[in-house]
Amino acid sequence: MTLSINDLIVSAPGSSCDGELAKSPWEFDGFPGYGPGASEDDLIPEPVVRPGQLPAAYQRMPEDELHARIRAAKQTLGHRLVILGHFYQRDEVVQYADFVGDSFQLANAALTRPEAETIVFCGVHFMAETADILARPEQHVILPNLAAGCSMADMADEDSVEAAWEYLTQFYGDDDTIPVTYMNSSAALKAFCGRNGGIVCTSSNASTVLEWAFEQGRRVLFFPDQHLGRNTAKAMGVPLEQMPMINPRATDLGVDAGVLRDARVLLWPGFCSVHKRFTVAQIEQARAQYPDCKVIVHPESPMPVVDAADAAGSTDAIRKFIAAQPSGSVIAVGTEINMVNRLAAEHPDKTIFCLDPVVCPCSTMYRIHPGYLAWVLDGLVEGEVRNQIVVDADVATHAKVALERMLAALPKDD
Ligand code: 13P
Ligand code: SF4
Repeated sequence: MTLSINDLIVSAPGSSCDGELAKSPWEFDGFPGYGPGASEDDLIPEPVVRPGQLPAAYQRMPEDELHARIRAAKQTLGHRLVILGHFYQRDEVVQYADFVGDSFQLANAALTRPEAETIVFCGVHFMAETADILARPEQHVILPNLAAGCSMADMADEDSVEAAWEYLTQFYGDDDTIPVTYMNSSAALKAFCGRNGGIVCTSSNASTVLEWAFEQGRRVLFFPDQHLGRNTAKAMGVPLEQMPMINPRATDLGVDAGVLRDARVLLWPGFCSVHKRFTVAQIEQARAQYPDCKVIVHPESPMPVVDAADAAGSTDAIRKFIAAQPSGSVIAVGTEINMVNRLAAEHPDKTIFCLDPVVCPCSTMYRIHPGYLAWVLDGLVEGEVRNQIVVDADVATHAKVALERMLAALPKDD
């Protein structure tokens, strides 16, 4: 019998990164903040998120009834509905997705079904916001559980970025700083980039985007993920001393004026609580156990981990890397566990395992439980749009400018 992540977490308390992952997502409905498994380092966004309550009938519903409802609703809605699923979604959910992909692919996928009335996004909040910005105005975008945020995205808020930007504009006295926001950020920050000559990047096209940015100006303000910014710029040959990390809480951004003057990439101190768990010691351990093993990690991992790995890339790049390895290969992967386990099941001729021995799903992706999916799909059948994501029109206009620049910056291997 194959155990799901849920089985593993529930059956072996203490085997996951956070014991609260053993609870149902709806136990946290209505709580401020992000609930089960959210890292202790996560910042609680303002205004505090208070997701609605999943009706008790859906909380109590047996799994097979939830799945029967999802299948029936999909059949009834037909082409009026498209479901997008990120690679990190649990298997019980991802099986219903019409498109499964990385952030870049899913942003494109949102554009490919203009005839669908509704896009149900099984991913996290910033992905659904992006789909709403790119979709036709008549299309509705639904995030099945509104508590499915991204702790990294919450590490850069609009006021702090505006304050840092003001300081930099005065310090440099030029317009040669280009703002680049990682896709994992709020629509407001994408709009900030659109208004200020900047761009959005994903982990798959980050180097194309940085090349574009350096054609527009001398330096880049990169937020929120310090690791993606550092790893990408380093691979392009930017020296570490020219990519200082700023402290948004310090009035002078906490960087020596001489260092700031020469900086090429100003890094924001954000990080992913899943990918920061990967270490060089884990890579050494994998190689000690399997001397011929290959190691691939997501570029949200810290720089020493990316440097020690054989390869680094977006979730889709990881998928392609594994597919390209010969039968019999051993591959250690530094990314989210649902995806790693799915790849292992898809390639039974290869030994594929997660670098981190502790079961650690992305706790916010994990909140898209089949109960929420069944509830929002039943709503659509009844003519009610539940948990809709609507980006303010002015924000959307400016964010779209930065997102369209992103869509034109193709990943290098495409
Ligand atoms: P990808 O764009 O590689 O899918 O990454 C999204 C993400 O959130 C990784 O943590
Ligand atoms: Fe955000 Fe990390 Fe989850 Fe990706 S894996 S959605 S960066 S918290």
